[in-house]
Amino acid sequence: MVMKMNAKKAAISAILASSFIVSGAFASDKTEPRNEVYKDRYSAQFESWHATDESTENTDLLKEDPRLVILWAGYGFAKDYNAPRGHMYAITDIRNTLRTGAPKSDTDGPMPMACWSCKSPDVPRVIEEQGEDGYFSGKWAKSGAEIVNVIGCSDCHVKGSPRLRVSRPFALRAMETLGTPFDKASRKDKQSMVCGQCHVEYYFEKTKDKKGFVRFPWDMGTTADQMEVYYDNLEFSDWTNALSKAPMLKAQHPGYETWKLGVHGKNNVSCTDCHMPRVAKANGKGKFTDHKVGNPFDRFKETCGTCHTQSKEFMVNLTNERKQKVADLNDRVENQLVKAHFEAKAAWDAGASKEEMKAILTDIRHSQWRWDYATASHGVAAHAPEEALRVLGTAVDKVGQARIKLARLLTAKGVKQPISYPDISTKAKAQAALGMDMKKLNAEKEHFKKTVVPKWEAEAKKREATYK
Ligand code: HEC
Ligand code: HEC
Ligand code: HEC
Ligand code: HEC
Repeated sequence: MVMKMNAKKAAISAILASSFIVSGAFASDKTEPRNEVYKDRYSAQFESWHATDESTENTDLLKEDPRLVILWAGYGFAKDYNAPRGHMYAITDIRNTLRTGAPKSDTDGPMPMACWSCKSPDVPRVIEEQGEDGYFSGKWAKSGAEIVNVIGCSDCHVKGSPRLRVSRPFALRAMETLGTPFDKASRKDKQSMVCGQCHVEYYFEKTKDKKGFVRFPWDMGTTADQMEVYYDNLEFSDWTNALSKAPMLKAQHPGYETWKLGVHGKNNVSCTDCHMPRVAKANGKGKFTDHKVGNPFDRFKETCGTCHTQSKEFMVNLTNERKQKVADLNDRVENQLVKAHFEAKAAWDAGASKEEMKAILTDIRHSQWRWDYATASHGVAAHAPEEALRVLGTAVDKVGQARIKLARLLTAKGVKQPISYPDISTKAKAQAALGMDMKKLNAEKEHFKKTVVPKWEAEAKKREATYK
């Protein structure tokens, strides 16, 4: 309750401190979740925002890299994980992923309400209506008919206005933790903070009075090392790996954190400088902010080209080289981690004790957290390549430590090495090795999409028809 009041106060002062002069008392206005409302008034912004639907590619990352199934054994990500695509797909993709399962009723799992938090301007709307306590309580399916509009205007803007806002109270609190509350931030800072309400590391709180609240683990800082200490102090884990039984952390997408550590973040080149450049209007009359958030190289002249003299080809090649280097180290960490999970399982099977396993599992936890921090912060090879390589380097070290200890323990237990590792050369084989019944999960999902989702949509339509 205290948090809620603070957040409300922060939101109000953010509005008061803004430099835009607009009429109306926006503080009392409710969030407008419907993007179409702004179609005519802000047509250039609306149309470019809508064009994020041109980024359709839905890459199945488990298919590309079946090792991920093992790293996430026992967790939803082992079922299904795709690369990000355009903002316009946020609702479709969260409904369709196997991770959200096939709930038959409002109270069915597996996921909590918190899963909607970075998908829609309906999120701040529902928080206004029900408070954070109300919003975060219950399962994901509870609000299927409420959270229906894709990432849009009211996620980043004050109602009906070009003024920026951070629309989620938990994100406002986190920004304050880092020392600059949104209302005190410069225009440039705000341009990145609006992205940083979603493109960040977060977890679902498990305290007595706050179950399932979204929280950013930033109290000690935002580096991989600092967040690791934060999580360790809480003895927090997202899940237990089904093979090694290590208490694991799932990094989300700490893009805001890694951007800060890169040369552009350090120079306060904002997310929007590269992903939402100012461009000429089609009619030649002035400029506007291109809302088609996507690949900066698609508008090279208006993005990189405003500050750099190198050619597009040079910059693309340089970025690809960096991606390759990050991918190479990534590959090495994954190979080692997969082995470590199987070897830990072999140690348990050979009768290892909790005490004997403790330090090993901590090494595995730390290695995989670091690996995930570096790779799940999408775009890291462009944003902060040296930080990605540094963190991945420490991940190699940690998993190396784990495997040395495992080799000693397995030997002491009389286990012949190398142990035999199952065939995980395809996604299907890796999932089969874990005994996952994918046929069933897929069939349930199809049924859910055919029966539940249309009901959600019809209900939402009815509700929105009552809006002014
Ligand atoms: C992901 C965040 C985000 C979303 C979603 C978003 N905007 Fe923006 N918008 C921005 C940013 C950032 C700016 C530039 C602010 C600045 O110049 O400091 C901006 C600027 C604007 C401006 C000021 C004029 C201009 O072009 O710079 C208008 C008007 C606007 N947006 C309308 C909209 C509308 C309408 C929608 C929904 C269809 C929308 N925005 C969705 C982030 C967003
Ligand atoms: C309300 C939460 C939210 C906000 C605010 C937000 N994003 Fe996103 N972003 C997402 C989600 C969720 C996805 C993945 C959507 C999918 O794959 O269905 C995504 C995807 C992306 C992608 C991949 C696009 C593609 O075509 O592959 C980029 C780039 C991106 N965001 C950058 C930004 C930038 C820059 C900002 C700030 C101007 C921003 N985002 C603000 C949630 C958000
Ligand atoms: C608003 C200005 C701005 C924009 C836009 C911008 N940069 Fe930079 N860039 C900088 C600054 C400032 C530095 C720091 C070093 C310097 O002063 O040259 C830098 C440094 C760099 C460097 C050298 C440091 C390193 O990473 O090794 C590269 C490469 C680079 N930028 C690539 C890009 C690319 C690619 C884009 C577009 C996707 C881009 N920049 C967009 C301002 C900008
Ligand atoms: C200096 C320019 C620059 C800045 C500043 C910048 N980005 Fe990026 N971003 C890029 C480039 C370049 C790529 C990689 C494009 C490619 O893969 O070819 C990228 C990739 C991404 C991706 C991955 C897209 C995908 O489909 O995999 C996301 C998400 C993203 N950026 C979000 C952000 C956010 C959020 C911020 C601010 C916290 C930010 N970026 C700041 C240049 C920038």
